[in-house]
Amino acid sequence: MVDVDEERINILKDGRVPLYEPGLEEQMVKVSGRLGFTAELGPVAREADVVFIAVSTPSGEGGAVDLSNVEDVARTIGAEISGVKRERPLVLVNKSTVPVGSGDYVSMLVREGIEEAGNGDASFQVVSNPEFLREGSAVHDSLFPDRIVLGADLREALGAMRALYEPIIKQSFFTELEPRPRSAVPFVTTDLASAEMIKYAANAFLATKISFINEISSICELVGADVTNVAAGIGLDERIGPRFLDAGIGWGGSCFPKDVAALRAMAGEYGYEAKMLAATAEVNDSQRKRVISKLQQDLHTLKGKRIALLGLAFKPNTDDIREAPSLEIARELTVLGARTIGYDPVAGKTAAQAVEGLDTTQNPYEALKRAHAAVLVTEWDELRALDLKRAASMMAEPRLLVDGRNVFEPKIARDAGLLYRGFGRG
Ligand code: UGA
Repeated sequence: MVDVDEERINILKDGRVPLYEPGLEEQMVKVSGRLGFTAELGPVAREADVVFIAVSTPSGEGGAVDLSNVEDVARTIGAEISGVKRERPLVLVNKSTVPVGSGDYVSMLVREGIEEAGNGDASFQVVSNPEFLREGSAVHDSLFPDRIVLGADLREALGAMRALYEPIIKQSFFTELEPRPRSAVPFVTTDLASAEMIKYAANAFLATKISFINEISSICELVGADVTNVAAGIGLDERIGPRFLDAGIGWGGSCFPKDVAALRAMAGEYGYEAKMLAATAEVNDSQRKRVISKLQQDLHTLKGKRIALLGLAFKPNTDDIREAPSLEIARELTVLGARTIGYDPVAGKTAAQAVEGLDTTQNPYEALKRAHAAVLVTEWDELRALDLKRAASMMAEPRLLVDGRNVFEPKIARDAGLLYRGFGRG
């Protein structure tokens, strides 16, 4: 594994994982003899049969993707492999989420790198292999994917990639995570551009599915229906499916916001206005505002009010706070003069650094002390199991609980002495 961040490489060499991802350290221990870490790309590029490019592709201007990391790596690889003779072409796998057409662009940059180095020709092929794992369940999703997608314009590279993925495709390994072997994992082969588009379409669809149920939750509030019952009812239709129908504060993280914006920007470059994607993003923005409105509805002015934010990471089981709803809500509350006290099992420190005025505590009850309201932002198991009676006994009137993930039973919360407000629960 190659990374330009030497500190990260040293942590990995020590057998530690530089981020919070359940099960990853155990997996690394299992294969420690076969893993190497270095900050030098050169020797790796020259000796490897397959190189995965998995660098970050953040949002650039107007939502368009900033490809500078991919460009640097492609040019460097080109320069390093210049003049290297090999039996089969080097397979360069684009794992990073990149705009449609980037496969060809990467080929061009590698070719330029080869020529500029001037050590002679080199053979390589670029393929696209989008990643579908979710943070917080990365190990599970890697071992048991719903599908593997491979985009390549030449057959040779397809064969090499199929061989590489064979244990996962055939599920021919045993892990204590899932002892029963699954049936074979679909290996979808397609052209480069379609593979790149599959990644964006998948994330945009999932984000739209969540925004859809959030819109339904707003209508449920008006008409007196409960969105959790509605989601259960529609999710049983196999064409709809039950997953990603949890209404609440909405989506965040390093993928959905960036990829929805990138797809819109990509369409815009061709003069197409992606109206549904615009609505998907708009509904998501309004979910954060709904939290503030719910607080104002019961507390009226927020000036001087103490508000506990329970959960700060963008989702449970990760320490990632990129585009986390908690940050946006905390910033808005600070602007409105409220005092915000946050708690998260792992992301407290980074969140406090990211938002001025956000204090954090070591346990949820500490955050709830004298709080006029609490907002459940991230549904960590520890927070789902919160002792609501204890919470109510520590809070100040009106003991408002805004359940941003609809995880508590309204009646139980009310019986515990809390003023309960969910999202779209009648
Ligand atoms: C997402 C996709 O699910 C992965 O398939 C993809 O590989 C990844 O992006 C990526 O592009 O790298 P991730 O962002 O890690 O994965 O997390 P998700 O579990 O998809 O959750 C995203 C956001 O949606 C979170 O803020 C979560 O709280 C929210 N969400 C999810 C809802 O608000 N409601 C739901 O029903 C589900």
